[in-house]
Amino acid sequence: MSDSPLLIADRDAVRVITVHRPDKLNALNAATLDALDAAFAAAAAEDAVRVVVLTGAGPKAFVAGADIAEMSALTPVQGRDFSLRGQRMMRRVERMPKPVLAMLNGFALGGGLELAMCCHMRIAADTAKLGQPEVNLGLIPGFGGTQRLLRLAGRAAVLELCLTGAPVDAARALQLGIVNRVVAAAELEEETMKLAEQLANAAPLALRGILDCVHVGGECGIEEGLEYETAQFGLVFSTQDMREGTQAFLERRKPEFSGS
Ligand code: COA
Repeated sequence: MSDSPLLIADRDAVRVITVHRPDKLNALNAATLDALDAAFAAAAAEDAVRVVVLTGAGPKAFVAGADIAEMSALTPVQGRDFSLRGQRMMRRVERMPKPVLAMLNGFALGGGLELAMCCHMRIAADTAKLGQPEVNLGLIPGFGGTQRLLRLAGRAAVLELCLTGAPVDAARALQLGIVNRVVAAAELEEETMKLAEQLANAAPLALRGILDCVHVGGECGIEEGLEYETAQFGLVFSTQDMREGTQAFLERRKPEFSGS
């Protein structure tokens, strides 16, 4: 058995990255943050990988947070560095040029929810619990939680979750817009892989254009966002996939997207 905190496996064009510290409920220590950073960099660079699914090992947790044991002894400067290390990795996940799906198989707490919020879609088991419990430790979220939850679910939700530290169940997370879908725990893997395969068969450069537009649009005004969308729209006319997709529609057949 390797000492790596991750398991990485390919199922055709879908790369499955599993945080693998089940005895610590997959808590994010510094080594795991670095391993995730490297794993996502590799997945971004490999054309054969079209979709990434991120999950946690074991039946209980996606990721139960940043590693509390490791954090407890940090100095202020080390704490700042730990936050930057996590934020850098999570920014990479958020800016991935291909879809990243979070498969939430249990607790997604603290850094676990922060990591899930960087993914492009979240599919949760009906047994999952999500929250930002840092306040219970005298801490605040440090991997982007206050900012991404604000943007994802709004002020009321971010304040409720961060100020109380209380987790919400999957159904409430769906109601708040934090997760995209909730499925029976026994069907989580099958449902997530079905979605991943659907995206793996879509036109990669169109997916990338959408990811870029939504990312840029989330951080600028409407005029700049629309202008950016127009530029990206023009750009997809340079792709083989756009010709193939429109031609296949006209010929009433299924398109075959090559990513060129
Ligand atoms: N950091 C480090 N270790 C963690 C951890 C974390 N965030 N979350 C869980 N663990 C460890 C526990 O210390 C325990 O290790 P041990 O067996 O060596 O003592 C192991 O994982 C199992 O956790 P345990 O607390 O026994 O499981 P539980 O089912 O009783 O409770 C939780 C599950 C998720 C409610 C509980 O583990 C918890 O509250 N974790 C911390 C969540 C949190 O505050 N996250 C934000 C951190 S900033």
